[in-house]
Amino acid sequence: MRKNEKKILVLILAFFSALALCCCSNTVTQDTQNPDKQEDKLTIGMSFDSFVIERWQRDRDIFVQAAKELGAEVNVQNANGEVEEQKQQIEYFIKKKVDVIVIVCIDSDALSDTIKSAHEAGIKVIAYDRLINNADIDLYISFDNEMVGTLMGQSLIDNGIAGGKVVMVGGSLADNNVSLVEDAFEKVMNDNNVQIADRTHCDGWRAELAADYIYSHRVLVSDCDAVMCGNDNVASQVVNALAVQRLAGKMLVTGQDADLEACQRIVEGTQIMTVYKPVEKLAHRAAECAVAMAKGQEISGEDVGTISNGKKELPCVKLEPVMVTKDNMDEVIIDSGFHSREEVYLNIK
Ligand code: BGC
Repeated sequence: MRKNEKKILVLILAFFSALALCCCSNTVTQDTQNPDKQEDKLTIGMSFDSFVIERWQRDRDIFVQAAKELGAEVNVQNANGEVEEQKQQIEYFIKKKVDVIVIVCIDSDALSDTIKSAHEAGIKVIAYDRLINNADIDLYISFDNEMVGTLMGQSLIDNGIAGGKVVMVGGSLADNNVSLVEDAFEKVMNDNNVQIADRTHCDGWRAELAADYIYSHRVLVSDCDAVMCGNDNVASQVVNALAVQRLAGKMLVTGQDADLEACQRIVEGTQIMTVYKPVEKLAHRAAECAVAMAKGQEISGEDVGTISNGKKELPCVKLEPVMVTKDNMDEVIIDSGFHSREEVYLNIK
C-alpha cells in the first residue's frame, strides 16, 4: 500500500513538472518571435526630405510631441535631399517593424517599389505634405496647394499687375506640390491677361539657384512687374539679388510658408505676401491619423476626402492655407503665436 501511494505521488509530481516546463517554453517562444518590438508600444518611422527650410523643424517637433501624447514613439530620419537615402530609411523602418511610416518625399515619383515592400510587410504609409504618385499609400495629408497658387496670383492682381508681366521662380519639379501651385497661379495670370515672361525651377529646392537666375537674367527680370517665388526661402534669395540691382521693393514678390524673414520683408516692403500654412494643425492631425492607423482604425472625419495618385483612390486630408500681407500680419501671424511681434517688426523703428 505505502509503495503504491509513493508511486502515485511521484507520478503527480512528474505530471505537474512537465506541465510547468511546457508553459515556460511557450512563453519563451512568444517572446523571441518579435524581439524588435516592445509590448504595446506603437512606433512610427518618419522620413523628412531635409530640415533646410524653417517650417520642417516645426512640423517634426509638433508631430513627435503629438504622437508621444497619443502613446506612440517616433523615429525621425533626415534624408538630406537624397532619394536613395530616403529609400534606405524606409527599408530600415520596414526591418524595424514600425507600425506606420510617414514620408515627406523628395521625389513624388520615386518610391513605388519601396512602398510596395512596406505594404508587403503589413506597414501603413502616410504621404505627408507631398503626394507620392503611383504608390500604394494609405493616406495623403497636406494643405490645399492649388489654393496656395491661387492666393499668390490673387495678391499680384490685388497689387495691380493685370495686363503686366511676371517671372516664375519655382521649386523642385520632383515635388508634386510645385505643379499644383504653379498651375493654379498660371490660371489667375491667364484670367487677368498677365504675361509669363519666363520661368525656372530650383532643383531640390536649392534656393541659391534662384539668385543665380536673377543675376543672369537682369534685363528680362527688370522688365517685369513681379517675381512669383515658389516659397519664402526662394524669395529670400530673389530679394537679395534684386537688392543688388536696386530693384528690391520695386517689384512684387510672392512666397509661401510664413518664414520669419519673409514676414519681416513683408512689413518692410520688399515682399508683398506669403502664405501661412498652419503646420501645427497639419502635424497634429497627421499624428492623430498615424496613431489611429497603427491601431488598425479607419481614418474618418469631416476633413477626410479622397484623391487619386495614379495608382488608386486614397483618403486625403487637405487643410486651408491663408494669405498673409502687411494688413493681416498681426491677426494671422502674431495673434496665432506663429511668430512674435518683436521678431516680425525687428527692423522697423
Ligand atoms: C512645401 C513647402 C516647402 C517646400 C520646400 C513644399 O512641398 O509645400 O511648404 O517650402 O516644399 O521644402
